[in-house]
Amino acid sequence: MGKRFADRGILVTGAGSGIGRATARLFAAEGGRVVVADQNEADVHKTAALIRDAGGEAVALRADVSREADCRAMVERTLAAYGRLNVAFNNAGIGASGFAVADEEEVTWNRLIDVNLKGVFLSMKYEIPAMLAAGGGAIVNTASAAGLVGERGIGIYTASKHGVVGLTKTAALDYIGQGIRINAVCPGATRTPMLAAWFQDPKVETFILSRHPIGRIGEPEEIGRAVLFLASDDASYIVGQALAVDGGLTAQ
Ligand SMILES: NC(=O)c1ccc[n+]([C@@H]2O[C@H](COP(=O)([O-])OP(=O)(O)OC[C@H]3O[C@@H](n4cnc5c(N)ncnc54)[C@H](O)[C@@H]3O)[C@@H](O)[C@H]2O)c1
Repeated sequence: MGKRFADRGILVTGAGSGIGRATARLFAAEGGRVVVADQNEADVHKTAALIRDAGGEAVALRADVSREADCRAMVERTLAAYGRLNVAFNNAGIGASGFAVADEEEVTWNRLIDVNLKGVFLSMKYEIPAMLAAGGGAIVNTASAAGLVGERGIGIYTASKHGVVGLTKTAALDYIGQGIRINAVCPGATRTPMLAAWFQDPKVETFILSRHPIGRIGEPEEIGRAVLFLASDDASYIVGQALAVDGGLTAQ
């Protein structure tokens, strides 16, 4: 495969771990010049080192996507490093708590919505003007299979991810005439530290596996390859979609 992202300025959030790290490495392997952002500074520097060790280009940045100043700084850093922002993967997120709705706490609601939903809004708020200045671009937001269907026990997370899908569709329509394509990726269970926390309970692991008709959980690179497709010119006619990459979970 050719280098679909040669010389493109790319921003990946939540790039210190899991899906974000794997996807940033795939972008860099296809020639992208990547700013990797994460609230965990040590982890995101490790991602940048992995990319550079493989011959790619990366700059690491500590950023909390629930803070507007940090989202502005991520974009400014990308422009300072690479001169333009062509692609953004808004992927930072935190996991669900596992309680029925009435047993949830307001503090959990506030944090999950702040990071998973407001974080995507604030990221796009600063990415879109930079992309307009570059003459266009592509954005992929990480939602979830829980952005497409309900799932017991993770009501707030599900609400946050349905919100990401709604925001993605609307933003896609807002900027469709200005050369920016915006889509979402909706992973099923994927082998990352977020999922490992859940799999500490064998009953939860059995339940999650039983929900995926393919009979296994996904690898972060399997999500990343779908993100690269949506962000690439191969997806030039795909706008405002929420692409399930979930081993058949939402086909049931
Ligand atoms: N793993 C799964 O099964 C799964 C399934 C569906 C969707 N997702 C989504 O995929 C995305 C990535 O998750 P993952 O599985 O790779 O998890 P992960 O925990 O391995 O990685 C998430 C990264 O986001 C960072 N992060 C968290 N809050 C942040 C903030 N406020 N600002 C900046 N960075 C922050 C974390 O430090 C971490 O490095 C999330 O949005 C998650 O909801 C994951």
